[in-house]
Amino acid sequence: MTATHTVKLRFADGAIRALEVGAEQTVLDAALAAGVPLLHQCRSGSCSSCLSHLVEGEALPRPGSSSTLLASEFAAGQRLLCVTQPRGDCTFELGYGSEEGAQPVVEAHAFVNAIEPIASNVVKLSLELAEGSWLACRPGQFIQVEVPGVGVLRSYSPVSTEADLPRLDLLIRLLPQGAMTSWLTCGAKVDDVVRIKGPYGAFFLREKRRAPHIFVAGGTGLAPVLSMIDRVRQLGGRKPPMLLSFGCATPDVLFYLDELELRRQWLPTLETRVCVDRDSKGDFHEGSPVSALTAADVRDPDTVAYLCGPQGMIDAATRRLTELGVAPENIFSEQFVPSN
Ligand code: FES
Repeated sequence: MTATHTVKLRFADGAIRALEVGAEQTVLDAALAAGVPLLHQCRSGSCSSCLSHLVEGEALPRPGSSSTLLASEFAAGQRLLCVTQPRGDCTFELGYGSEEGAQPVVEAHAFVNAIEPIASNVVKLSLELAEGSWLACRPGQFIQVEVPGVGVLRSYSPVSTEADLPRLDLLIRLLPQGAMTSWLTCGAKVDDVVRIKGPYGAFFLREKRRAPHIFVAGGTGLAPVLSMIDRVRQLGGRKPPMLLSFGCATPDVLFYLDELELRRQWLPTLETRVCVDRDSKGDFHEGSPVSALTAADVRDPDTVAYLCGPQGMIDAATRRLTELGVAPENIFSEQFVPSN
């Protein structure tokens, strides 16, 4: 008889689900088989969507699996459930509610409304969902867009929010020889139809958190972060103090500065820092958006941080924010992966 272990999953809304997990099973596989909706995406230990915290018992990575967790995160009890096997009865805590993993992925069609270059290497693509189509994302999640005529899929987080639907705005970085870039710059026109699919990802605004928020964004990683800030604006009640540190390589590739200025006017609790790696000429912080963070930015131990950009920026921001006192479980991130 194959041994099983009892695993309890404690969700942020107080719900507890118990599962029997086989010796060769991962916790994620057992949960999905039992109809317990857990957030996940890659199922291979690389996206952190299935992050949890082991609070009782022993659970180890499946032999031969890989994981993006640092040794210190593992030692502190963090586990990626898609590659984790229990070694006895154990309990995990999840940083989201018991229904949040149940959001279904849907396919939809959308018309191109506008194609607007907003920097030398960034285009804003405005889509409008076709009649009968609906695709809502939590702020920060991403969708996949099929490049017309090529059929390959590319992932983008809308900069717009659910309140803007049926309009969906995407910020797309142009890449040499990129499939999406070729279509946008050579073939795309207003009223073209694209197929989209989603939503995906566990990088989304935790709306119930009212502690100070820090957002760190590199390049088009600004899109999900701005969507989160707009959602905070739409939510009722007192707004938390918010800091947005946003950076690009040089001043000439910065974009959306007027949009940031608008948010500053709309949200008195929002502070923005615009950074460039070089050639600042005194107009912007010179250095990365991580180097713009200071000890004075983290005064509350419950501060929540959202990071989106290249992996190096995310690693540096995670280290810096942890040093400054942000709890690792309050840091949420999404790597921006350019794909051509
Ligand atoms: S689902 Fe991606 S790390 Fe587990």
